[in-house]
Amino acid sequence: MRYRRSRCVVCLAALVLSMSALGAEPWLEKCFECHGADGMGKSDPMYPVIAGIPAAHIEEAIYAYIDGARQCLREPRMCETVASLTESEVSAAAAYFSSRVREYNLEEFDADLAAKGAFLHERHCGACHVPPHDEDVDYAIGIPLHGQRPDYIRYAIRAYFGGNREPLLDTMSHELRQLDSDDFDALVNYYSSYRAGN
Ligand code: HEC
Ligand code: HEC
Repeated sequence: MRYRRSRCVVCLAALVLSMSALGAEPWLEKCFECHGADGMGKSDPMYPVIAGIPAAHIEEAIYAYIDGARQCLREPRMCETVASLTESEVSAAAAYFSSRVREYNLEEFDADLAAKGAFLHERHCGACHVPPHDEDVDYAIGIPLHGQRPDYIRYAIRAYFGGNREPLLDTMSHELRQLDSDDFDALVNYYSSYRAGN
């Protein structure tokens, strides 16, 4: 009985939080302009999907943009917007977008390339990057890539190579350096083939 009640309190808190994020926090509208209220990314294919990224990773990414470890070369307004947030707004934004369900990004993909990409993913990336519905996603070292928009993944990989983003882990840079551009093509096709629950 006690167990059930405490679960309910958690549900209620989550509900209140998501309702307040939808209604009473107009500053979130700025994020919606590019990422969408559902976090699936709007218009420009370079606006990343942020639905279903664990809150800790969203916060870490936002602080990386604030302190310059990640630079907004493509869209300076992203960095300007997050620079104006308070710490509690960063936490509220992370809570809001982490609880949006990432369904799928409706991108077209090539099935043969996706199959090759699945193999490369398991071998080089899967230890750290798990799908957003995976029960261990909150504990995974990397940000979920399944269902992410392909242009953004390509851009992010180029940013690590070009020194515009500091990778947190040398292991990841090491894995990226093992691959060529055909391999990255296969990987983005694989991540686009993601359908929630598969
Ligand atoms: C003008 C469009 C725009 C606005 C406004 C904007 N973003 Fe972004 N966001 C982007 C782009 C583009 C990137 C990729 C930036 C880069 O790495 O160069 C990004 C990246 C991110 C990332 C990292 C995603 C990942 O997969 O690593 C997070 C988290 C994020 N934005 C959250 C927010 C939040 C929260 C807000 C509102 C406070 C916001 N953004 C406002 C366009 C925008
Ligand atoms: C040792 C763990 C690890 C491995 C292996 C790894 N990554 Fe990562 N990756 C991370 C971490 C941690 C981040 C987020 C922090 C950062 O920006 O460095 C990340 C971020 C990324 C991002 C940016 C995601 C975003 O939403 O902005 C891309 C793209 C990426 N990795 C691709 C890959 C690919 C492709 C592979 C396999 C070839 C790979 N990673 C292997 C740990 C790893």
